[in-house]
Amino acid sequence: MYDYKDVLAEVLIDEQTLQKRVRELGEQISEDYKGQDIVFVCILRGGVVFLIDLMRHVTVANQIEFMAVSSYGTGSRKSSGQVRITYDLNTGIENRNVIIVEDIVDSGNTLNAVIQLLETRNPKSLCICALLDKASRREVAVPIRYTGFVIPDKFVYGYGLDLDEYFRNLPFVGVVDLKKLEAIKLKN
Ligand code: IMP
Ligand code: MG
Repeated sequence: MYDYKDVLAEVLIDEQTLQKRVRELGEQISEDYKGQDIVFVCILRGGVVFLIDLMRHVTVANQIEFMAVSSYGTGSRKSSGQVRITYDLNTGIENRNVIIVEDIVDSGNTLNAVIQLLETRNPKSLCICALLDKASRREVAVPIRYTGFVIPDKFVYGYGLDLDEYFRNLPFVGVVDLKKLEAIKLKN
């Protein structure tokens, strides 16, 4: 196994910047939902680190739930538009204020499918909170109410986002050097 440093092109968002923005988002949510009750629906696994930090800045009543989705044709870094729910919520969301917590919106296919599904369960409100937005890659419009950072079209890892399922624990968001990654894979 290689080290994260072996494939790091640059740190895109450092720990301090991330933490500051996540706090702001938590405070904003607390203000917007004052006196109300929230269910955070975290999309596994990328949204986990963000959720855990975010919720500690939320002062209104909240619960957490998890959902896992997979795009057909795994292995590819591009989601296909065909999305399958592999793990569903453990509770009903009818008449609840739902905030979907996601690491990154790329094509928009994943969240578009999740939103369509959750809408059928008649929540009181439904919105998206995404840490990262690769806006230039969007194929399907999805309304993001809370955005951490709009980022360029680069493959990133850390702070919940994986590189081949590793490095989700990094406290920053880094850009993958795809040439270095390729060279490492050729050697192994
Ligand atoms: P979408 O359906 O194309 O919007 O893809 C969203 C999903 O693709 C995210 O939830 C991530 O799991 C994954 N993804 C997209 N870009 C990246 C990236 O740069 N690094 C890691 N995962 C990514
Ligand atoms: Mg994800």
